[in-house]
Amino acid sequence: MFLRKLTCLKLTFILAMLVAPQCPVASAQSQPQQNGPWMDKSLSPDQRADMVIKEMTLDEKIQLVHGTGWGVLRGGDGVPTKSNLGAGFVAGIERLGIPDINLADSAVGVRMAALQSRYATLLPSVLGLAATWDTQAASLYGSVIGRELREQGFNMSIGGGVDLAREPRNGRNFEYAGEDPILAGTMVGHLAEGVQSNQVMGDIKHYALNDQETGRNILNAILDKRSMRETDLLAFQIAIGIAHPAGVMCAYNKINGDYACENDYTLNQVLKKDFGFKGFVLSDWEGTHSTVKAALAGLDQEQPGYGYFGAPLKAAVEKGDVPMSRLDDMDHRILRSMFAAGVVDNPPVRRVVDPFRGLEDSQHIAEESIVLLKNADNQLPLSAEAIKSIAVIGSHSDVGILSGGGSAQVDAPGGNAIDPRYGPSVWGQPVYFPSSPLKYIRAKVPSAHVEYNDGKNADAAANLAKKSQVAIVFVNQWMSEGRDAPTLSLPNNQDALVEAVVAANPHTIVVIESGGPVTMPWADKVTAVLESWYPGIGGAQAIANILFGDVNPSGKLPITFAKSDADLPHPKVPGIELLPPPGPRGREGRMKPFDVNYTEGLKVGYKWFEAENKKPLFAFGHGLSYTVFEYSDLKADGRQVSFTLKNTGERPGAEVAQVYLELPASAGEPFNRLVAWQRVELAPGESKEIALTLDPLYLSIFDVEKNGWQIVPGEYKILVGGSSENTPLNSTFGVGVGHGGGIGSGN
Ligand code: BGC
Repeated sequence: MFLRKLTCLKLTFILAMLVAPQCPVASAQSQPQQNGPWMDKSLSPDQRADMVIKEMTLDEKIQLVHGTGWGVLRGGDGVPTKSNLGAGFVAGIERLGIPDINLADSAVGVRMAALQSRYATLLPSVLGLAATWDTQAASLYGSVIGRELREQGFNMSIGGGVDLAREPRNGRNFEYAGEDPILAGTMVGHLAEGVQSNQVMGDIKHYALNDQETGRNILNAILDKRSMRETDLLAFQIAIGIAHPAGVMCAYNKINGDYACENDYTLNQVLKKDFGFKGFVLSDWEGTHSTVKAALAGLDQEQPGYGYFGAPLKAAVEKGDVPMSRLDDMDHRILRSMFAAGVVDNPPVRRVVDPFRGLEDSQHIAEESIVLLKNADNQLPLSAEAIKSIAVIGSHSDVGILSGGGSAQVDAPGGNAIDPRYGPSVWGQPVYFPSSPLKYIRAKVPSAHVEYNDGKNADAAANLAKKSQVAIVFVNQWMSEGRDAPTLSLPNNQDALVEAVVAANPHTIVVIESGGPVTMPWADKVTAVLESWYPGIGGAQAIANILFGDVNPSGKLPITFAKSDADLPHPKVPGIELLPPPGPRGREGRMKPFDVNYTEGLKVGYKWFEAENKKPLFAFGHGLSYTVFEYSDLKADGRQVSFTLKNTGERPGAEVAQVYLELPASAGEPFNRLVAWQRVELAPGESKEIALTLDPLYLSIFDVEKNGWQIVPGEYKILVGGSSENTPLNSTFGVGVGHGGGIGSGN
């Protein structure tokens, strides 16, 4: 730049001797203007973006709407010199003071830290976070990610997954926030807000209906508009409304015939128009399939490369197939998001990540997220004084806890705890983090005999259980992007292991580390079951604290646990039978496109079980405590619900009080829906009056003809309690003609 300037100045001087000076290079457009008027922080992000756009050349406008290739993700691909070695890189416009965008996968912590010998905190899975039902925990979760992104030199997160758990065997459910759109949207919205509170750009993904991994690049998800708006898209609507994220990543799959990254309905009409999303839509990695169609349908940035939004987009703009105004809109969305997040005014400055702070935050969230599913005869908490011997069995619980795979994989400090070797994590291989349940259980009972068995031989495990007072069996289900669980059953004969152990010792406690719900054919036999999800780097401490009562469990299920695959809307993962056997090329590459008909429509998760009269193994919202809560004094109208919650037990504890709504029959929704909740901490004997406001949106149904939300007149039933199937309080209120007191009643 400097050289170019010199040359130009020289030229100008020489030319000035001959003719009137006219330097083509030194036009206003290519002058370095790093301190242009858009650097005035008192202007709005939109004003600042517009000012920059006026100065940009066509090439610069194109440069900002695509990445520069696969970079570190694909061996042999070029890595831009300024890349921070994350999943994506967009070159900035240096002469105008616009920084590069360095994007990092960061669903449950920052990915690929090992490439730079850096540390990143592994948080509990997002599904675990959803089990806290605690929006403060969600903000904290996001703020850990945002903080560590900044400290590692990244200015954009690509996490924030909020695809609904329509398919409970989806390999990425651990990255998402469960099956209820209001809970999922709220939790992920606060998570993304937490990320952005650190002046990095946040993202919400994968928009939309990327509800399974099997065939994700070729499947066509079919769902009617009303169901879409009230389920999967509602989760995005809520999350976007809370976080105002910089980015929304469109998904790989098709939606009702069009790819998600060139879908005019979901992108232009719903996301940008109806939701009022002001940020930019970036494609999932190689999820762009066209230039003109995608640009006109609302895609703003191709990732990770430039096959469609590089030279082909420039040509399309020059030809008029994509209007310049649309290209300006793409750039505007990107630039205004950069200004709004603060990445221009306050770029990240690298420093050493604080692992202790990360551990503390992660453990705190894990302690709120663990769900006590069963506790017969108050087997838990274990009494440290009374216990003389414990058998700890399975799931490498001597050395670590399990993490989820794929692009959400965080690198374990010191390498995989079961196979520590140099280098980053290897795709497809389960990674255990060095948080040893055995160690922390031993620490609780230093004088007891605590022995470990790896669980590979069920008889040996049973022998150890037999001679121990209590057996704690750790079981797991490893999940990852790119594949779904073929069934809800635990893999690797772990059911047989539990059966053998409980046959040898009736005092058997099962601790599950899973990416989603699993079946438990042994559920009636064991005394206690804890679901710990993937509990993060503080997982072992959190599990031990709950087992021994130092922490009272308060997590509640954000997803239904079915008794069997046969009870699900799709007894088999759609398309899983079409998968060819593993081979040299990707399995999907050899698969024919197929439709996934989401015929269950609105009936996602617990709504399906309620409407179909099926009893789940553990219901949505379920979770036990070591204390007892009593609900009373319900008052409800269409705007507010209030009730009294009392801790009648002997320990302090937290209850997630849940409010469900049954709509009038004319709404055509024969199931309850969650409409509000609050996590309440109570000392023994303490009671509190809880008042919750009802959001009119959550009372509404989507009217496709009017393209709007509507509250149907009639009688509504409010149900309040500690889970979707345990609602001791209920009352009704009316809406519309002939009813008083509710929305639409004129009051
Ligand atoms: C995943 C995205 C991820 C991207 C970059 C894709 O395969 O679906 O979630 O952000 O890769 O790693």
